[in-house]
Amino acid sequence: MGLVAAKIEPSAKQDIVAGLTQSLAETAVEMTKAQNFHWNVTGMAFGPLHELFQKMYEDHFEAMDVLAERVKALDAHAEGRYSKYLERSAVEEHDGHATDREMVAALLADQETLSSTLSALCSVSEKHGDWATNDLATERVAAHDKFAWMLRAHLGENA
Ligand SMILES: [Fe+2]
Repeated sequence: MGLVAAKIEPSAKQDIVAGLTQSLAETAVEMTKAQNFHWNVTGMAFGPLHELFQKMYEDHFEAMDVLAERVKALDAHAEGRYSKYLERSAVEEHDGHATDREMVAALLADQETLSSTLSALCSVSEKHGDWATNDLATERVAAHDKFAWMLRAHLGENA
């Protein structure tokens, strides 16, 4: 007898879609925040920070598409409104008035939030045997942890 994958139960699917939607919301808010800081950063580290913030918003833009399209593959509705993203997101938007150091610290905290949201999605998708969601959530944890390391390094806070 061959291996047969269990079908994902509707209630499990709801939990997974909720996790994907929260991840999408936080990724979207963080994308706009990183671009906002890309525009408004000042100081002697303008060049490298302007560039790092661009790498972040470009990464997050692509990740939004991956997360939303996984929602569609699970036959659910992909949320596309910032008003709803802001309601759901633990990452908050920013007016862009901050020192370079404050911007780096704010994005660092957000990347840690995103890493933990995506880690929770790893767990829930593993529990329900949704390996496609599990795979993309794992990739996103690694991406946010890498950005967190880069931001932390700017603050001189690495071990
Ligand atoms: Fe630009």
